[in-house]
Amino acid sequence: MTLFNLRLSLILIICVQLVKAPLPSIFPVCFRNDPEISDCIVQSVTVLQPRLITGDLGDGYLIPTTDPFDIPKLTFGSERDFKTTLTKLQLRGMSNFSIVKLKADIEKLKFSMILSFPRLNLSANYQMVFGLFGSPLYSNGQMFEKLENTRIGLRMKAKLYTKNGEKYMRFDPFYFKILQSDVKNLRLTNLFPNTLFIGPVVYSYFSDNKEYITRAIYPDFEKTFSQTFTRMANELATSASFDELFPI
Ligand SMILES: *[C@@H]1O[C@H](CO)[C@@H](O)[C@H](O)[C@H]1NC(C)=O
Ligand SMILES: *[C@@H]1O[C@H](CO)[C@@H](O)[C@H](O)[C@H]1NC(C)=O
Repeated sequence: MTLFNLRLSLILIICVQLVKAPLPSIFPVCFRNDPEISDCIVQSVTVLQPRLITGDLGDGYLIPTTDPFDIPKLTFGSERDFKTTLTKLQLRGMSNFSIVKLKADIEKLKFSMILSFPRLNLSANYQMVFGLFGSPLYSNGQMFEKLENTRIGLRMKAKLYTKNGEKYMRFDPFYFKILQSDVKNLRLTNLFPNTLFIGPVVYSYFSDNKEYITRAIYPDFEKTFSQTFTRMANELATSASFDELFPI
């Protein structure tokens, strides 16, 4: 019988999309009543992590990773003065993380953790509209940013429901919070190339305010993370009962 366990759920939540297949033999089991269950989970994730990067978990179990992680579109600023639209955002480095802290309460089906991502690269296509003058000015190009020491707080809570006499879990939308991130490097290509002053002025504005601008896009990131990973977790949770996920 296929035995999904908590580690798998976490890994799927963090990195992958669910592919229904027999589980690879390397998955160790953490039992529901293990008093050190949080440590057990952290250790198993650590054992499995090198395989998450390739997506090959062994025994023919292949999973697509979320590295790079895609976000279709973000917008900030206002149409009237200065508006920036970012499209095709890609965040690279998501599979290289460590668990700083993890708390699992199996009784209440509550999980909380802090994840650390040492290095992330953000890239996007940008479109800017500068509307302060009579006729608006447009600029299109690419944006690159390096993020170091990013910390993300994640809280998950599930409820049980009964299907065919078995109990299953369903997760509420995850709470995702970017707690910290050092913005190291901001590059914008092709910035208002046909203007004398605007390119450099906009660049130094972005450069001086890179922390502020990056924080402005956090809520969209958090929302997309939450939607993506909640959906994955709930796909997983429909394919194994609570007793299979958390053996006694
Ligand atoms: C981030 O980009 C740099 C080059 O700018 C590269 O050396 C590094 O490997 C990239 N890191 C990730 C996680 O993609
Ligand atoms: C993960 O990040 C650390 C710190 O930047 C780096 O030393 C290590 O090589 C990375 N591992 C992988 C698999 O990219």
